[in-house]
Amino acid sequence: MPTFDLAGRLALVTGSRRGIGRAIAEAYLAAGARVILNSPDATALEATASELGDNVLTCAFDVSDTEAADAALTSLFDEHGYPDVLVNNAGIQLRGPLTELPVEDWRRVVDVNLTSAFVVGRTVARGMIARGSGKIINICSVQNHLVRPTTAPYAAAKSGLGGLTRSMCAEWARHGLQVNGLAPGYLDTELNASLVADPEFTDWITRRTPAGRWGTPEDITGPAVWLASPASDFVNGQVIYVDGGLTAVI
Ligand SMILES: NC(=O)c1ccc[n+]([C@@H]2O[C@H](COP(=O)([O-])OP(=O)(O)OC[C@H]3O[C@@H](n4cnc5c(N)ncnc54)[C@H](OP(=O)(O)O)[C@@H]3O)[C@@H](O)[C@H]2O)c1
Repeated sequence: MPTFDLAGRLALVTGSRRGIGRAIAEAYLAAGARVILNSPDATALEATASELGDNVLTCAFDVSDTEAADAALTSLFDEHGYPDVLVNNAGIQLRGPLTELPVEDWRRVVDVNLTSAFVVGRTVARGMIARGSGKIINICSVQNHLVRPTTAPYAAAKSGLGGLTRSMCAEWARHGLQVNGLAPGYLDTELNASLVADPEFTDWITRRTPAGRWGTPEDITGPAVWLASPASDFVNGQVIYVDGGLTAVI
């Protein structure tokens, strides 16, 4: 279907060495795009790029390091032009009770999960606005909406990312950009390794999720292709839950 075709598009996916970011990168390649992979680890990133084959570029930087991100993106865009699609996917989780939480952990989670989307997003958006088109997808979470004990900085950052998504839409939609969020439920990735390994949690989450299972990174790829493609040109400022029904049912 041509409306879902990404041929000729250039897509930057942050945090794409593994997990959801890598799955989205692979789906974009399959839909015909060229993809720029990102991770702070340049050596490991090259290994991933060689596994993914042709049409793959790399741009290694820590998304929470504003100066490094701006420098890396400037030289990337000088060489390859501005991307058509940006996925702000890089994220971390640091769990702990609020009364014991070091402020450094709070700042680290907010920097990586939220501030990075502003920093990378505005740099990319400048080129998209000049061109009059672009798609930005912010990877949010069911924790935009539902929270659990011990995940306060993550829930605050992801809720903020929902607000940032709507704010980007408010300022940039008139310039031809579509900015939306995807909010995964509980997916089996390294981010959740301790929860996946916990039979009690797995029993609870599979009963709590109407679909009756952990999600996989591949569950996000269809919606991610849709939001990167012309098929979603009038979808803007939305956070779309991809959670097996978790947020629909108590
Ligand atoms: N898994 C879930 O259930 C779930 C649910 C809702 C939302 N999400 C969100 O989905 C996104 C991806 O999560 P995931 O489950 O795929 O996690 P993951 O398997 O832990 O992968 C995270 C990726 O982000 C990269 N990353 C971490 N910090 C970075 C930084 N400072 N700069 C650049 N890249 C960085 C990692 O790079 P390296 O590989 O080099 O370490 C890795 O490639 C996150 O935003 C997460 O919050 C996940």
